[in-house]
Amino acid sequence: PRLLVLHGPNLNRLGTREPQQYGRTSLADIEQRLHAVCEAAGVELATGQSNHEGQLVDWIHEAADTGVGFIVINPAALTHTSIALRDALLAAELPFIEVHLSNVHAREGFRQRSYLADAAAGVITGLGADGYEFAVRAAIRRMGGQA
Ligand code: DQA
Repeated sequence: PRLLVLHGPNLNRLGTREPQQYGRTSLADIEQRLHAVCEAAGVELATGQSNHEGQLVDWIHEAADTGVGFIVINPAALTHTSIALRDALLAAELPFIEVHLSNVHAREGFRQRSYLADAAAGVITGLGADGYEFAVRAAIRRMGGQA
C-alpha cells in the first residue's frame, strides 16, 4: 500500500510560523513521525509540500497514476479558495483526509468554508501535529493495514 501526504502553502515555515497558532513542531519533525508510523505498518509513504497550487494539482494527478491508495492533505489556505484542488482530488478518485493543525472553526469566518471537506473521508482540525498522525493511522487502516 502507498500513501501520499501533502502540505500546502506556508507550511514549510512550520515551527517558526505563528507558533501560537500552529505549534513549534517543524514539518520535518512531523514527517519523521509519519515515516515511523508508516514503516511500522509496512506502508510506503511519499510526502510533498508546495507553495504552488499547480504543483499540488500535479502531485495529485501523479498519485492517481502511480497506485497511491490514500491521500492525507493539509491544503492550508487553499482549503478556502481552491476549486482546482477539489477537482484534482475528485478526478483522482482517491479517498483523502483533510487535516488542519489549528481549529479552523475557532478562527476567522473565511476559514470555516472548505472547498474539499464534503468530498473528504474525514476532517481533523485543531489537534496540532497529532492530527497528521491520526489521519495517517486512519488512512492505513482504511487501506487494510494495522496502525
Ligand atoms: C491551516 C489552516 C488554514 O486556514 C491556514 O490558511 C493554514 C493552515 C492549519 O493547518 O491550521 O495555512 O490549514
